[in-house]
Amino acid sequence: MDSISLRLIIQVFSCCLMVRIGLGIEYYVAAVYEHHSILNPNSTALSDRKSALEFMSKNLDIYEQQVNIAAKKGVQIIVFPEDGIHGFNYSRKSIYRYLDFLPPSHLLPWNPCVEPDKFQDTEVSQRLSCMAREGRMFVVANLGTKVSCEHVDPKCPTDGMYHFNTNVVFSDNGTLVASYFKQNLYFEYAFDTPPHVQHVVFHTSFATFGLFTCFDILFYEPVVTLIEKHHVKHLVYPTAWMNQLPLLSSIQIQRAFATGFNVNILAANIHHKTLGMTGSGIFSPIHSSYYYDMDSENGQLIIAKVPVDPSEELCPGDEEQVSWVKSETFKDNVLYPSSETCHLEDRKGHCGGSAWENASFHSEMMYDNFTFVPLNTSEGTVHVCAEAVCCYVTYHKQNTSNELYALGVFDGLHTVHGQYSLQICALVKCGGPNITMCGQEVTHASSILTFHLWGSFSTKYVFPMIVTSGVNLQLPDHWGWRDNNCYMSKGAMEMGLVTAALYGRYYERD
Ligand SMILES: *[C@@H]1O[C@H](CO)[C@@H](O)[C@H](O)[C@H]1NC(C)=O
Ligand SMILES: *[C@@H]1O[C@H](CO)[C@@H](O)[C@H](O)[C@H]1NC(C)=O
Ligand SMILES: *[C@@H]1O[C@H](CO)[C@@H](O)[C@H](O)[C@H]1NC(C)=O
Ligand SMILES: *[C@@H]1O[C@H](CO)[C@@H](O)[C@H](O)[C@H]1NC(C)=O
Ligand SMILES: *[C@@H]1O[C@H](CO)[C@@H](O)[C@H](O)[C@H]1NC(C)=O
Ligand SMILES: *[C@@H]1O[C@H](CO)[C@@H](O)[C@H](O)[C@H]1NC(C)=O
Ligand SMILES: *[C@@H]1O[C@H](CO)[C@@H](O)[C@H](O)[C@H]1NC(C)=O
Ligand SMILES: *[C@@H]1O[C@H](CO)[C@@H](O)[C@H](O)[C@H]1NC(C)=O
Repeated sequence: MDSISLRLIIQVFSCCLMVRIGLGIEYYVAAVYEHHSILNPNSTALSDRKSALEFMSKNLDIYEQQVNIAAKKGVQIIVFPEDGIHGFNYSRKSIYRYLDFLPPSHLLPWNPCVEPDKFQDTEVSQRLSCMAREGRMFVVANLGTKVSCEHVDPKCPTDGMYHFNTNVVFSDNGTLVASYFKQNLYFEYAFDTPPHVQHVVFHTSFATFGLFTCFDILFYEPVVTLIEKHHVKHLVYPTAWMNQLPLLSSIQIQRAFATGFNVNILAANIHHKTLGMTGSGIFSPIHSSYYYDMDSENGQLIIAKVPVDPSEELCPGDEEQVSWVKSETFKDNVLYPSSETCHLEDRKGHCGGSAWENASFHSEMMYDNFTFVPLNTSEGTVHVCAEAVCCYVTYHKQNTSNELYALGVFDGLHTVHGQYSLQICALVKCGGPNITMCGQEVTHASSILTFHLWGSFSTKYVFPMIVTSGVNLQLPDHWGWRDNNCYMSKGAMEMGLVTAALYGRYYERD
């Protein structure tokens, strides 16, 4: 055991002394780097390999600096974002010179730093491998790779070459230990969908990790299979995520995912405020260190201790913080003894406050047709139903400001910028005092709300999310299932509420 893990265990041990005498929780030290990538002004033009490498080396130089900084802090694994090395906006033709060759598994093992001449067109892999080796840490990065295919493969592109959006992992001695081809592409015309879904897991001395990328976070494959069939508890997640409130801001979905699946996630996003991209973090089910900054154009290295067993973690507040990286902690995770449970058949009954039954209205949120009811009084219970889902909220609004809030429900197929089926109960601050403004993107709020939010979902995959003013995260005080309803509750917070949602993914109905 090296001195760093010893120090961490001592620190944790003293923190947990009251509750877990004699049991140290094991941690490892992880880093994610939110990278302000240098974008390629010539991404749609054809390039030669030399110019392509010259361009990518500018981003790789920054990666190398960050690995050096992380190495001094005892980091054992670092994650870099999707598209961080080559950037965006390529066509299938124009990306070609930016692609590294990825050897098939029967030609492994391979240490690109030690054996640079074993394969051609592997310069990017060589640099990443040397960073891992010199920094003595696992390095996870995203790059474009080319893999030749036979024309007997019906999915093989006509030019005989797959272009994959690829995550690669190098061990702490530089060996290539894993690669993953992104399954759920997001309008990436330069890349091909892999012919088969990959479920990629890699082992280290401190934990076993699963790999996925960006848009994958919303889909069953490969993510749910990794978690439920491969029992992965740690996920590394390069992303290039454009924020979209009220429901899909980067850190909001990252946090909800870790809590909902009871896993750790190491999420690295691109930083480009003009593209709406920021928001990275290291999340356990009940802790996080995250970065979200729409004001500056700076990248940010986030370093945190991560529990080896996420379900064992009991000691809030012992994270190593990077300055101006925010964190939030779970108060407790005791099941909420709901005083009132509502069922579908109670739609017009005592639970819903039938006075509001006829006050519902439709408004678009995240391109979906939500049904809303306004929260017009300072406290009360309202409900709203659509299709098979009814949503309820019992709330108390401390600040009786003129900010309008509404409870919205959606049960259906989302079809814009990707197709996926949702069931959502969302308490949102509207964009203004007119109900037509409910569902708009809002980042700030001053109303302090306490609430108990619940709904009748048909899917078990429901992710709890709370966003407060300035795009900060909160965890519910309680959340879980009771009488076929998924619920969450939250006492008074210090900041105004932007969104509180139970975000359900109904994978089977996609
Ligand atoms: C873009 O193309 C121009 C003209 O070919 C060239 O001068 C410039 O160096 C290229 N920039 C990059 C980043 O490749
Ligand atoms: C992408 O390319 C188009 C031209 O094909 C250009 O108008 C646009 O600005 C580019 N976007 C970025 C982010 O480079
Ligand atoms: C390098 O790391 C890999 C993967 O962790 C391991 O299998 C291999 O034995 C290591 N090689 C050396 C020389 O330490
Ligand atoms: C609901 O409808 C009834 C009858 O149309 C009306 O009297 C009542 O004021 C309405 N309630 C609300 C909250 O709009
Ligand atoms: C939203 O759904 C309601 C109820 O199904 C429907 O009446 C309304 O026309 C829809 N609005 C839009 C914009 O599609
Ligand atoms: C609630 O407030 C909104 C916005 O002020 C208003 O448009 C709506 O009619 C009110 N609804 C009820 C039921 O009072
Ligand atoms: C709310 O907005 C709609 C559409 O812009 C407008 O027609 C309506 O008059 C507004 N209502 C109020 C109370 O301002
Ligand atoms: C709550 O209301 C008070 C008085 O209106 C105000 O001073 C305070 O800033 C509000 N709280 C927040 C978090 O905005």
